[in-house]
Amino acid sequence: MIDYSEAIPNNVDLASDKTLQRALEKWQPAFLNWWNDAGPTDSARLEVYLRTATSVDKDGWANFSYVRMPEYRWGIFLVPRDENRAIHFGDHLGEPAWQEVPGELRSTLRRIIVTQGDTEPASVEQQRLLGMTAPSLYDLRNLFQVNVEEGRHLWAMVYLLHRYFGRDGREEAEALLARRAGAPDNPRILTAFNEETRHWLAFFMFAFFTDRDGKFQLASLAESSFDPLARTCRFMLTEEAHHLFVGESGVARIVQRTCEVMRDHRLADPAKVRALGAIDLETIQKFLNFHYAVTLDLYGSETSSNAANYYTAGLKGRFEETKLKDDHKLSDDMYPVQEVEGDRIVTRMVPALTALNTRLRDDYIREIQAGLDRWNRIPAQFGVPFRFMLPHVGFQRRIGRFATHHVSPAGEVITESAWNSRKYEWIPSSEDNAFIESLMGRVIEPGKFAGWIAPPVRGIKGKPIDFEYVRFN
Ligand SMILES: [Fe+2]
Ligand SMILES: [Fe+2]
Repeated sequence: MIDYSEAIPNNVDLASDKTLQRALEKWQPAFLNWWNDAGPTDSARLEVYLRTATSVDKDGWANFSYVRMPEYRWGIFLVPRDENRAIHFGDHLGEPAWQEVPGELRSTLRRIIVTQGDTEPASVEQQRLLGMTAPSLYDLRNLFQVNVEEGRHLWAMVYLLHRYFGRDGREEAEALLARRAGAPDNPRILTAFNEETRHWLAFFMFAFFTDRDGKFQLASLAESSFDPLARTCRFMLTEEAHHLFVGESGVARIVQRTCEVMRDHRLADPAKVRALGAIDLETIQKFLNFHYAVTLDLYGSETSSNAANYYTAGLKGRFEETKLKDDHKLSDDMYPVQEVEGDRIVTRMVPALTALNTRLRDDYIREIQAGLDRWNRIPAQFGVPFRFMLPHVGFQRRIGRFATHHVSPAGEVITESAWNSRKYEWIPSSEDNAFIESLMGRVIEPGKFAGWIAPPVRGIKGKPIDFEYVRFN
């Protein structure tokens, strides 16, 4: 069980390490200052029907009750230790998992943890204004649930920094509260986490595409030979599933509403769909393209010696490493990677060790495609011929082999002038964003939903859809 009698709820026996406890108790008010400054605007007095982890057991990690968010029980929860856990990939295959950080890997591991940790508060900052335009109480509650859990993920990474990295770790933990998404002077580390989340379509796309990148990064860190990191990431993954649900179902409900409008008024022209206050499917596709491309950049370069080193050193495994049937060293394996050659895109075989970023990205794309397939059932049900498609992996990339090229969604290498003349057919223009923003208005009457989004199929935790998920008193 998690000890809630302590200032910082935890299942790591914090009380037995007074130095660590004092350090984290010093960090805690700084975290709350950050939350009040950069977290959801005007939300401190709201009572939100939130889940809180009270145990890391299968049934106990999701307890639902009304909570004021500044009083949320953020804490430090790791899945229990398996005393027999052994390293299951790389050069140290078969050796016992590490309970302390090996000296030679210290700075690399710290960098990995800081980079992951930085994304958690960043997304809260990106989303801080969205509560003001929530399409329903149900959606407002889901936004806040995601936000408090990203806050807890920050706690998870900060615990590792404080516990295992001494003074450097404490400094990094402070810096995690000092950077701000989109700030010109002190931005977040990764580009996708400095983009604005201007409206709820962007939020749902972010939760579908970018939180799912989070899932895959956490899954590869959950394989780590550094056992405390693996155990931390395993628990974070249980929370991440809800974030993915919020994104996927949010987009599905927008598509649903659009298809209803198209059916009821017998129309297909996007401009007429917009005139009726729904978001045309063509515009949704543009946001899909944009968020997909920005998220693919989070996987880094297609080939990477860093990724190879992380793997052989045992720091970062493949997705579901334990389930894969091979030698878990990859010394002789090859893997296909795409790149531009002249005016076309070709596939080359490269050493699998260097292509681990591409492999993780390919695993990610498979899940994303399955999500699109589910979205596409909605227009199919309505007899609407439109289908969502993933653009080519080279589309609109800023990192890796495609960064110096222009690639159309269909995968043609095109000139810069062709790109410039066509790009707003493919990615949202400022007019598209302005149109979506024009639809945003706060709906806070229980059971009511904004006109551009359908209600969900069911409520949260068996509650009805018109339940008062957020109390404003
Ligand atoms: Fe997270
Ligand atoms: Fe998340």
